[in-house]
Amino acid sequence: MHARENAHAPFSKFRVGAAVEDSAGHVHTGCNVENATYGLTLCAERVAIFKAISEGVRRFKRMGVVANTEELTPPCGACRQILWEFCGDIEIVLANLNGKSETLRLGALFPRPFDGSFF
Ligand code: THU
Repeated sequence: MHARENAHAPFSKFRVGAAVEDSAGHVHTGCNVENATYGLTLCAERVAIFKAISEGVRRFKRMGVVANTEELTPPCGACRQILWEFCGDIEIVLANLNGKSETLRLGALFPRPFDGSFF
């Protein structure tokens, strides 16, 4: 995925690209953006979602995540929470640079989520 090439990952050297497709079929991409304080780093998934949110998009169909790992890289816990709140049980496509991929639902990665339905 092209967005991965834009990753700002001078600390981990671990580049991730994400793309989220909205309900109109438009694709919003993101890469990880690291910070010298580490904790302020944003993952590719959140960058893609927040870009789309900031453009007024609220309905999503699926997200793709690409990293150069043999075992496919899944979204971290923080991203799973953010994805659940904005996208619900969407399809998540994990892929690597060798053409390996797997499609699963967010609900399988993030069972029994907490969200705004509790209050
Ligand atoms: N990272 C992502 O961007 N997405 C993931 O799904 C896993 C981790 C980033 C965060 C950090 O810049 C680097 O990968 C190492 O954790």
